[in-house]
Amino acid sequence: MATTAVAAYQPKPSKGFDDVIIIGGGLAGLFCALKLAPRAVTVLAAAPIGRGASSAWAQAGIAAAVGPGDTVDKHVTDTIIAGDGIVDEDVIRMMATEASARIHDLLEFGVPFDRDLAGKLSVSREAAHSESRIVRVRGDMAGRAIMEALVAAVRKTPSIRVLEGYVAEELITGNGRVTGVAARDKAGSGEDLHRLNASHVVMATGGVGHLYEVTTNPTEARGGGIGMAARAGARLADMEFVQFHPTAINVGKDPAPLATEALRGHGATLHNSAGERFMLGLHKDAELAPRDVVARGIFAEVKAGRGAFLDCRAAVHDFADEFPTVFGYCTEAGIDPAKEMIPVVPAAHYFMGGIWTDADGRSSLPGFWACGECTSTGAHGANRLASNSLLEAVVFAARIALRLGSEMTGSAPANWQEGSVSSASHLAENDHPNMAALRRTMSPNLGVLRDGDGMRDALRTILDLARNSHSARFDNVITTAKLIAVAALNRLESRGGHFRTDFPEESPDWKRRTLLTLEQANAIVPDLLETDR
Ligand code: SIN
Repeated sequence: MATTAVAAYQPKPSKGFDDVIIIGGGLAGLFCALKLAPRAVTVLAAAPIGRGASSAWAQAGIAAAVGPGDTVDKHVTDTIIAGDGIVDEDVIRMMATEASARIHDLLEFGVPFDRDLAGKLSVSREAAHSESRIVRVRGDMAGRAIMEALVAAVRKTPSIRVLEGYVAEELITGNGRVTGVAARDKAGSGEDLHRLNASHVVMATGGVGHLYEVTTNPTEARGGGIGMAARAGARLADMEFVQFHPTAINVGKDPAPLATEALRGHGATLHNSAGERFMLGLHKDAELAPRDVVARGIFAEVKAGRGAFLDCRAAVHDFADEFPTVFGYCTEAGIDPAKEMIPVVPAAHYFMGGIWTDADGRSSLPGFWACGECTSTGAHGANRLASNSLLEAVVFAARIALRLGSEMTGSAPANWQEGSVSSASHLAENDHPNMAALRRTMSPNLGVLRDGDGMRDALRTILDLARNSHSARFDNVITTAKLIAVAALNRLESRGGHFRTDFPEESPDWKRRTLLTLEQANAIVPDLLETDR
């Protein structure tokens, strides 16, 4: 075990300087902290750790080639196919190879993965996987079970100082490196901006789903960490690639509850209100086609006013037992999935873009690392393969911990006092009209289907909102939105999660990742707005 049990969790006082600060209390952040133990680390979390983390809502599980007949090569091949030409093969091979070791770490931290009668890990199948390779917990409870186990392990680990209710606003930089973070307490509403100095900062703040009106992500997933990194000068990658999950439950909730892809893996089918099984005409694999294809199929039905419905009646025999989370969501909405079809709609679900890192989670800025959904490592390409996200989070968190372990000096960099932090007023972000206006432009213009005119409209709105920003936190959020719009307008083709109706084909000229900084993005904005792209 990597943890040491103590009677009660005691947050340690700061000595005024931290070796490592991890921003984010989700899967990637907590796993990194645990893998660093017994080295001292501070975790900053906006909410109680584990809460507000997309990973806790994950229903499927972790992809790992641990089942009979499966191999690392097959996992790599499936990921490359799903990623539509721009997956970094070295990165996914490393991830698939390390998957089994990370599953064993999670078992040691107490995650109760499902096992068969012989005690071997059970694996199940999901769309676009050629083998059964999803390690799960009690049907659709993997995310919750993993996070419960990690939170408990962190609470028992004395080397981890947890600061809950701290919202990071700005990276502190000095002499060309990141030297700490400025954060506000009281869930971001505190008067004082606390300045926490560190040798190394690890960003693990999650994705961007809440930039969209319909999303499966928690409200915290607004891309703030990505924008913060961009404003500090970090390189970003693949910012145009947002993944829309085909089957969020369409009952007008924000965030929208998810109906896991595993239901289609079990044989559930998609129909419109006329009863047509529309996916049959769109792809040879019908409901098991790649996620972006199914999302566009459903989107077309919803837009045409016919609606889309997931029929699980023949496929799932004991819903409450096999898919307790989805069953709970349906029951809450007054739907009995054993007797009725579930209304579904595509929803922003996962971000393939983010802070560029190398294979060890190192960003382009010295002293700054990143792991989890806020990163773009090259593992997902243009369209992530289901259940590779939790895998990426733990693999990169562990690699950062390994590297940091050898780089930690325990002493302050000479320049740490030279960083500067600007203060800004704070308002409740979710209720602010700026946030609502942003979401209103992102969904129709940078959503499942895009075109030049719509994206230019969105970019103009984003620039206006940035000029009228009300807080440092919104500055971060709007920066991420701007980078998504710029990267999307710049890519003159369709690939994976980025589908342009004005450039509907893939182009060999664009078979590459997008790498850019905020400075580079700002420089091409006038051109993107004026040119007929
Ligand atoms: C799902 O359960 O459908 C989501 C799995 C994933 O996003 O990897």
